[in-house]
Amino acid sequence: MSQSHQQQELPSHLAIIMDGNGRWATQRGMRRQEGHRQGVETLRQSVKDVMQAGIKCLTLFSFSSENWNRPKAEVNFLMSLLQRFIESDLADLHGQNVRVRMLGRRQDLSPKIIKLIERAESLTADNTSLQLQVAFNYGAREEIADAASRLARRAVAGTLDPASITPEVFGSELLTAGLPDPDLIIRTSGEYRISNFLLWQSAYAEFFFTETLWPDFTADDLAEALSAYAQRDRRFGGLSNQKEREH
Ligand code: IPE
Ligand code: IPE
Ligand code: MG
Repeated sequence: MSQSHQQQELPSHLAIIMDGNGRWATQRGMRRQEGHRQGVETLRQSVKDVMQAGIKCLTLFSFSSENWNRPKAEVNFLMSLLQRFIESDLADLHGQNVRVRMLGRRQDLSPKIIKLIERAESLTADNTSLQLQVAFNYGAREEIADAASRLARRAVAGTLDPASITPEVFGSELLTAGLPDPDLIIRTSGEYRISNFLLWQSAYAEFFFTETLWPDFTADDLAEALSAYAQRDRRFGGLSNQKEREH
């Protein structure tokens, strides 16, 4: 990355909705699964690019709780890609000092994949260069409902005062507990929606939408998103340059 790049304001937490694999393949007369395969190549490179840019926390949306609605063959292929990705890339990610975690309902996945995920998480638990979250079988509404259910159970058991449930308490029940909220969410492929991703956490996220299909996403696209982000005026309900105004 260039020097000017390193000087600009960076997101503490970048999240990416990696969309457009199917269309990428269809446009080339290939089967959708070729797009997913290429998407994994892009993912691998993007993790490196994101680290190179100096970002410390990255969440990648790889499979939504609604993606089970796809044909069984495609779902199975995506499951096998996750499995193969962990098998082939875990050592490398660990070597790069990346901490890997999976966000999502893992009980619906196969025992073999659950084991692999657990291994990946425990092996890399102390790594510090990048916190990488793979959102797989993730749905924000499910995450929020699950958090509400756990809090309700504690309230019924008498161990939690309902009046003490603040946004902070609620946020600490979510799968992202301990992570900063995403500052920037990139979505590829020209779709302008959030598709049940990080609904609670994105309250003040900046969004960057690009027409680029995920398999075509490069370090240049990332640089463009980061430079757009650096130019955003994030007010959080306050005023621009509020500190200076108060003097
Ligand atoms: C993103 O690409 C990957 C997943 C959602 C699993 P898509 O498979 O959604 O690709 P398009 O949107 O059909 O092109
Ligand atoms: C969102 O993409 C989920 C992932 C990128 C994993 P989809 O392709 O599933 O989203 P919709 O259906 O177009 O909203
Ligand atoms: Mg899609």
